[in-house]
Amino acid sequence: MAVGKTVFENYLAGFDQDAWTESLELILPQVHPADNQATRIWFAFWPLKLRLALDRSPDPAQVFKDFQLDGQPRLEEQVDASVAFLFGSNYWPQVKQALVAYAEEASEPQNAGLDAHILALSGRLAAGLQVEQDLLIGITAVGMMVLRQVGLSRLAGCAGEPVPKGRPKTAAEVLKLRKGRGWKSLIWNSRKYRATFDESTPGSCFEALEGQDLSMASGSDPRDFQEMDQRRVAGPVPAQCRSGACGYCWIGVLSGQENLSEMTAFERGRLQYFGYALPGGTDHKHPVVRLACQSKCYGDVSIVVPPWNGVLQEGAPETSSDAGD
Ligand code: FES
Repeated sequence: MAVGKTVFENYLAGFDQDAWTESLELILPQVHPADNQATRIWFAFWPLKLRLALDRSPDPAQVFKDFQLDGQPRLEEQVDASVAFLFGSNYWPQVKQALVAYAEEASEPQNAGLDAHILALSGRLAAGLQVEQDLLIGITAVGMMVLRQVGLSRLAGCAGEPVPKGRPKTAAEVLKLRKGRGWKSLIWNSRKYRATFDESTPGSCFEALEGQDLSMASGSDPRDFQEMDQRRVAGPVPAQCRSGACGYCWIGVLSGQENLSEMTAFERGRLQYFGYALPGGTDHKHPVVRLACQSKCYGDVSIVVPPWNGVLQEGAPETSSDAGD
């Protein structure tokens, strides 16, 4: 048992990445549609293996080098910002406070699985806040992984920090926002589609021509995004090679997955090479994690840009065996 940690923190530390993934698959059917994909995306953006690599190395700078990390891969520096794209972040201060209390009070959680704890805590929160539990399951699961990765003192230290402003106030508003304009966009916009990259900030979208990949479309946005993220040299989506080689352009797709071209074997191979998660398995044609430069646009989409990129796959070959498919 790690010294200074609560019983519950030590319990959480006993689960590896596969166990978290299994528990996530168990609870996802019960997560509200407003946060179902967002929950998958958050867990893809913040894999346990990245945290463990940074924690276990005596030389974090070497981890950055080994994993070719760029951007901001430290969750402890952006606990609140990391959840901004989830609707459940409306309840984030309460979730954090409840998690801290839960972690401090929990006696030895012998037989319950991770999913049972997530459901128990989200149920307790729902009763206290008088909201539907399905709105809280995803953000509670995220909170539990945040606790696992940054520890109780850091989570307690940021309890009560404000959530991002400007997001829709109800889950119905979120779903309406993500519905897109469908056939109307064809008539009124001459086969141009809207790619939203920050649902919390009005105007955070760029246009994509029919069949244009999201990386090229993002690069046509003339606004300056480098002040917020030095990787965003041209447009809101980081990109370097625009050919599947660098991994800078990985994104989460909150809505409109079916409006993007099907994932090819080449793109799948590149995602696996980079070690990025493929939530829900490897056989999805329209998964929630994509490479923007490989995703051609045929309708409105809402995406999230992860704050870091790298090559997490240990011993990854220089080129994927699927390359060129
Ligand atoms: S821009 Fe390099 S992989 Fe997409």
